[in-house]
Amino acid sequence: MNRIIFGGAFDPVHNGHINMAEKAAKALDGDVFFLPARISVWKDSSAPREDKIKMLELAIKGHKHFHIDDYELNSGEEINYSIDTIRYMKEKYPKDNIFYLIGADQVNEFHRWKEAEELSKLAKIIFYKRPGHQINDENVKKYQMIPILGDDYDVSSTKIRELKSLELPDEVLFYIVENNLYSGMVELNRILTPHRISHVKSVAKLAYEIAISNNLDKPLKYYFAGLLHDLGKDIPLEEQYKIVCEHFSEYKNLPKFAYHQFAGAYLANKMFEVKDKDMLEAIEFHATGNSNMKLMGKIIYAADKIEPTRGFDSSDLIAAMKNNAEEGFKIVLKANKEFLLDHNKSIENDLTSKCFKQYL
Ligand SMILES: [Fe+2]
Ligand SMILES: [Fe+2]
Repeated sequence: MNRIIFGGAFDPVHNGHINMAEKAAKALDGDVFFLPARISVWKDSSAPREDKIKMLELAIKGHKHFHIDDYELNSGEEINYSIDTIRYMKEKYPKDNIFYLIGADQVNEFHRWKEAEELSKLAKIIFYKRPGHQINDENVKKYQMIPILGDDYDVSSTKIRELKSLELPDEVLFYIVENNLYSGMVELNRILTPHRISHVKSVAKLAYEIAISNNLDKPLKYYFAGLLHDLGKDIPLEEQYKIVCEHFSEYKNLPKFAYHQFAGAYLANKMFEVKDKDMLEAIEFHATGNSNMKLMGKIIYAADKIEPTRGFDSSDLIAAMKNNAEEGFKIVLKANKEFLLDHNKSIENDLTSKCFKQYL
């Protein structure tokens, strides 16, 4: 059997890792063993080892050729040398072929590794070759390294920890959010009150479920738009208004409750580098609606109004959204209009009245 060792910080595991592991497993017809490293001290933040393992478990679910080995995590050593890990694997599986997967950037430094020569004899070194990446051919020849060809799949763990990249398995993102891991979640918890945090998590979850049951592409985008939709809500009203005047001046005469949707879109871009137009628009009009809403906008609008922690029985409305989001949106909109009128809330603002006129 071919066993491929894939060591790394996996803090957290992301689509770049999964992609590399898939390519290696296929090229060598082997099983991949993820070996998370013990130490990873980032400037921003790092996850406890139990969380790293749980995220790996979520990421490899359904990949029957992927496994996790916690040898390095539990080794008790300050620094783990690859040579020790390989000796451990060799001992554990004496009859099998051991491969050691490294990134293209590690190829150039390989001669500096502890017992590099011996290492390359015990295990075959394979490396993931990306187009446009300079490789030290001398090392490739000397240590008889085998290239695995792959596409340019550049994913940054730093950006993922900062919630500035969605290039990770869906369930891993949910885990990060639910457990408030890494610097991005620290920021989110700083700008939103605890009450708001539970609301946005609930909106995110519902928006994701609606996207899944409607077979929509990239459901994680719906989740993330839901998570960020109220970013502007807990900052002082004067600050919200200032953002509206500076960046959305055509809307500065709207009632006060609407300021936060514009501030939210502005902050989603500034704090979390959201550039996707549909996501930004969905945040920008989630409270008022408008006369020209895309499906993501309709889903975030609806999920915000009917998420289960709102305190009323919204199960029929949720079912309608899951069944057909376009049709469900009209039903939610109608229910919301009745609610606003019943509670003597004004629906006279320009955006909301145009929204009702367009869709009801
Ligand atoms: Fe809101
Ligand atoms: Fe909200």
